Amino acid sequence: MSATIIDGKAHAQGLRARIADAAASLSSRGVTPGLAVVIVGEDPASQLYVKNKARQTVEVGMRSFEHVLPASTTEAELLALVAGLNADPAVDGILVQLPLPKQIDAQKIIEAIDPAKDVDGFHPINAGKLMTGVPGLVSCTPLGCLLLIQSVRRDLAGLNAVVVGRSNIVGKPMAQLLIAQSCTVTVAHSRTRELPGVCREADILVAAVGRPEMVRGDWVKPGAIVIDVGINRVPNPAAGEGKTKVVGDVAYGEAAQVASAITPVPGGVGPMTIACLLRNTLEAACLRRGLPMPAVDFAA
Ligand code: GUN
Repeated sequence: MSATIIDGKAHAQGLRARIADAAASLSSRGVTPGLAVVIVGEDPASQLYVKNKARQTVEVGMRSFEHVLPASTTEAELLALVAGLNADPAVDGILVQLPLPKQIDAQKIIEAIDPAKDVDGFHPINAGKLMTGVPGLVSCTPLGCLLLIQSVRRDLAGLNAVVVGRSNIVGKPMAQLLIAQSCTVTVAHSRTRELPGVCREADILVAAVGRPEMVRGDWVKPGAIVIDVGINRVPNPAAGEGKTKVVGDVAYGEAAQVASAITPVPGGVGPMTIACLLRNTLEAACLRRGLPMPAVDFAA
């Protein structure tokens, strides 16, 4: 069997187009959603990521506010900025790029963000809402994964899902989203016994461990849907000395022989994360004003 390749780039583009339509209709009613992105430090990869977010925010017709702070920023300074953004009526969504420098307690910052503007879905209020089935803002990467899974199979009820990774950002919210879809969910991690055997039970396998190509082809159940969240930079000597390439947490070539559908890296989950951030900004803008959220996720 050769798997369907789930084109995250194309799905993200489609989602952004629908978000742009919804944003235009909001704008015509005098509401232009605004997203504030805060980055602390000069990490070039993070800066590029933030630049991409800002460009795409403007492209869908929303306002982008960027705050680039020096690596020496104190926790008190960042808390003051967050308080200002919480109070700013032009700001519907706030994203503070992680990781933060070690002098800043990231959890304190996450908890300082107004849950109604928490487009990352990291605030305990939003994590709790997800867990209890109450509508709220949902973490972007798992939301993107769910949309990609549903692009190949809408009804997931009764399927076995295995999520490899238990982070607050991906693994745990992913598990909650799949439970809400009536999957039977196993959350596996670095201490899981017989991990290959656990993965082989999965009709839906989500790999979010941050270990290059850890999930091998023979860990995949024939016909499974495989979602690879990993972004790992590894040496690529075939391309020349000192060259690198990006690979996922799944050995793609092997897994694609066994799965029914699989996301590539790059071009799978990654593009969906930013599209879902824009979707969440739209949702936050609507929720704050008591407006209905336009159905952007699966519109034709
Ligand atoms: N760093 C890596 N991924 C993310 C994300 O989704 N949100 C935030 N805030 N920081 C990140």
